[in-house]
Amino acid sequence: MIPVEDLRRTAQGAMSLNIAFIGVVNGLFSALHRLQQADVDHLARESGMDRGYLERWCDAAYAFGWLERDGAQFVLSEDGAAMRPEAEDSRMAIAVGAMLSAHMAERAAGLMRTGERPGEKVLAERETILPWFGAMLELNFRRTFEKEILPRVEIFQEINEKSGLVVDLGCGNGWYLRALLGHCRHLYGLGLDGFSENIRQAAAKAEAEGLSGRLQFAEGDIHHFRMPRSADLIAMNRALHHVWELRGALFDRLYRELNPGGAVVIWEPAWPGDTGILRQPEYRGMAFQNVTEHVQGNHFLQPSEISAALEASGFRSELHPVGSDVVVVGRRPD
Ligand SMILES: C[S@@+](CC[C@H](N)C(=O)[O-])C[C@H]1O[C@@H](n2cnc3c(N)ncnc32)[C@H](O)[C@@H]1O
Repeated sequence: MIPVEDLRRTAQGAMSLNIAFIGVVNGLFSALHRLQQADVDHLARESGMDRGYLERWCDAAYAFGWLERDGAQFVLSEDGAAMRPEAEDSRMAIAVGAMLSAHMAERAAGLMRTGERPGEKVLAERETILPWFGAMLELNFRRTFEKEILPRVEIFQEINEKSGLVVDLGCGNGWYLRALLGHCRHLYGLGLDGFSENIRQAAAKAEAEGLSGRLQFAEGDIHHFRMPRSADLIAMNRALHHVWELRGALFDRLYRELNPGGAVVIWEPAWPGDTGILRQPEYRGMAFQNVTEHVQGNHFLQPSEISAALEASGFRSELHPVGSDVVVVGRRPD
């Protein structure tokens, strides 16, 4: 049995991340970094936050080690500095993810009584979390894409040599296309997403990274979009499980939208055939998220299900395991 002290420490871990979340979404770590040190009044003026809340937050952030103090003056600890969204290797995605998990778990607890599955709108219920969604996913996955997937999965270089068009369906804040086009200088990109906030952020970031000449974004539904021209690569990252119910019609259409020799590249968590493996730490997050996906009307997929569905639409599939995820390439034969 887990000692009760350990359980309490776990609960304190959640509290600590919740305090960090408040600091992230209200710009408090960033403001304190700019000021170097500040008392509550100074930080309230700089951040525009209410002084009463801020005083309590500073005490709690100090208690959990996000801030240091010298009398009434607060400074960022090393851990607090790493929570700044603009920090190199920022850790803010962990705090945002923890708060999103708490929100989704609370909703699942209530919905389990009736079996209702309200859909993806549940993700958007918390106005402080929603704007951080794209940046959270970028911090969680961009490095793996650049370091592990891009060098190993050959299709990206093949399409780069043809100066091809890559379309990202369910593109979030567009990080995948920004990373890909940054490495593959001949590619053009088009990202599509159903959330207008994602498209706004994606376009702004592409502009800021000097990519807007080769990269565009549009709001729209994966099931009803129109391609400006045939694509060479169609990517879906953590998006296929959102539209899995209509996979047959979707994959048939993607096959027709691709140039011969083109491919779809799908990156998804790899739901295991043997759920005994879920106890392993690297699978626990997936097991948790599968509960919250159920709220949204989705479920995670086994790699073999994805390949079978691609092959039923005429693609030749290849599987590339990446930790507890999988990248499935479906090639349209020449
Ligand atoms: C888990 S997020 C992944 C985002 C992005 N691909 C990434 O890896 O960061 C799933 C995305 O799919 C989008 N999405 C889900 N269903 C969609 C649909 N039917 N049409 C357009 N976008 C959709 C959501 O808005 C969301 O941005």
